[in-house]
Amino acid sequence: MTITRTLVRGVGGYLPERVLTNQELEKTVDTTHEWIVQRTGIEQRHVAAEGEFTSDLATRAAERALKSANMTIADIDFIILATTTPDLTFPATAALVQNKLGMSHGFAFDLQAVCSGFVYAIATADSHLKNGMGKRALVIGAETATRLLDWEDRTTCVLFGDGAGAVVLEAVEADEEDWDQGILASRLRSDGTHWNKLYCDGGVSTTGTTGHVRMEGKEVFRHAVGMITDVVDGVLEDAGFSSDQLDWFVPHQANRRIIDGAGKKVGIPPEKVVVTVNRHANTSAASVPMALNEAVLDGRIKDGDLVMLEAMGGGFTWGACLIRWKS
Ligand code: UT7
Repeated sequence: MTITRTLVRGVGGYLPERVLTNQELEKTVDTTHEWIVQRTGIEQRHVAAEGEFTSDLATRAAERALKSANMTIADIDFIILATTTPDLTFPATAALVQNKLGMSHGFAFDLQAVCSGFVYAIATADSHLKNGMGKRALVIGAETATRLLDWEDRTTCVLFGDGAGAVVLEAVEADEEDWDQGILASRLRSDGTHWNKLYCDGGVSTTGTTGHVRMEGKEVFRHAVGMITDVVDGVLEDAGFSSDQLDWFVPHQANRRIIDGAGKKVGIPPEKVVVTVNRHANTSAASVPMALNEAVLDGRIKDGDLVMLEAMGGGFTWGACLIRWKS
């Protein structure tokens, strides 16, 4: 008997050129490099240039993922783009990326789950591929999160950055002895009772403006570790593994203290945790694929490794995905 398994065939990432350091922020808002590093682990973030849009970052990351998969856009059946910072209210930024990549076949859509967007998108693409809606998918997380910031609000403006990451997924038919490969299990969760702990105070249907990020940081922090460990433990249980079998933990990069707390609670030693928050800050849906891209490119993640992705963010939304790496 065979089953469909989804493999990650290629990865790519893109960071805008401009680096904004904590020291620069010290000059514009009442904060210090020491406070930001101590409370979050963030030392710098990248910021998209004027005229550089989410679709541009997404397209660059997608091109690199296609190259690493040895594929062209003609091989792709659909695109899912996780973003909370679309170029336009409509059409979907995924359609703009589809056009920039020169693809007019198949389908493309945006997925909005804020910081959990990439994990949601991977799980959604995996389901679509298993249901036969295509054989290969491009899954992208891309954000110009700094454009949602109130640069006078020190409690949020020091936390976010811009960037994009992408993966190429391919469905394969696996014989029983090959079932332990590719995406093994995913869990997605949301609980809208927490919507106003992390949200944007504007929108099409309410204010007609984009709004700014507003967050009760302490409240988000209080829930984060428990929610993350809940889905990570659940995914391990679904797939029949334990945390000591994990080779790599690729968490959402919001705060170094949350990453450390979650790693400790799940039972993963720090040397198996991929960390980029110090250089990238919180790039929302782009953080997990960018961290994944770095760890694959520098040779940490290799074929045969058991890799756990997880994220948590506004909504609240949270989720995790377990992958036996086989490119
Ligand atoms: O990606 C989605 C998920 N988002 C997150 O995971 C974010 C979760 N939350 C956090 O990461 C943390 O709660 C923050 C980093 C946002 C804040 O850290 P905290 O340790 O919870 O600090 P706090 O909010 O309790 O603030 C402590 C103090 C306050 O001053 P008082 O009231 O003690 O006088 C703040 O006003 O730090 C002050 N403060 C700052 N000081 C210097 C807040 N922001 C800053 C700042 N610079 N940028």
